[in-house]
Amino acid sequence: MSRLKVLIIDGAVRQESQTRILVKIVSKELMKKELDVSVLYQNDPLPLYDQNKTTINSPKIQNFLANYINADIIVLSSPEYHNGMSGALKNALDWLTEISNDKKSKFKLFGLMGGGGAFANSGALTQMTMSVRSIHGWIMPEVFLGVPNIWNAFNNDKTEFIEKTQEDRMISFINKLIYYGQFFRDSKNKLQAA
Ligand SMILES: Cc1cc2nc3c(=O)[nH]c(=O)nc-3n(C[C@H](O)[C@H](O)[C@H](O)COP(=O)(O)O)c2cc1C
Repeated sequence: MSRLKVLIIDGAVRQESQTRILVKIVSKELMKKELDVSVLYQNDPLPLYDQNKTTINSPKIQNFLANYINADIIVLSSPEYHNGMSGALKNALDWLTEISNDKKSKFKLFGLMGGGGAFANSGALTQMTMSVRSIHGWIMPEVFLGVPNIWNAFNNDKTEFIEKTQEDRMISFINKLIYYGQFFRDSKNKLQAA
């Protein structure tokens, strides 16, 4: 059986982004578990969704859409911005409308993560959940990871969580992502074979 493929869509844009640190830590853990991981970083963001043929055909958008189709699991990561997801992440999701009728864009498991202030990224998690429904993605219980007070969550090297409870939550998130990701890939294969 080939490795599970994960695409992480990083909604962070700021140079000193804290949620990008989370993306890097989670990516490393997923690679340790032998998953193929690719990340759409938005420090060079996707163009704004405009449904313009020239933009759609640009290498940046075509690569993104191809990576999306190729992945078994999609992880959305967003900072909490004004009780919602970042504009960069929403823009990336809007581009997926271009492949919404493609059979290969179905049966993807989504994991949701990110961070913010005292309430982590609860607003962004809610918005991401609604958007995933709209793009026909699948979300399973507890496959989300919200990091409260994210500015104080990581060690000085920005390579791991300070608190063990946070580390444990991340490991649980990753294990569920893999368990359900495998289930979804098997179901997709059975459906396509039928
Ligand atoms: C535009 C903006 C809006 C924000 N709104 C909220 C908010 O509604 N709730 C919250 O807890 N934190 C809020 N924050 C704090 C961020 O969630 C926090 O700084 C987090 O580190 C941002 O992620 P980033 O470092 O990846 O950009 C906001 C920050 C910015 C820049």
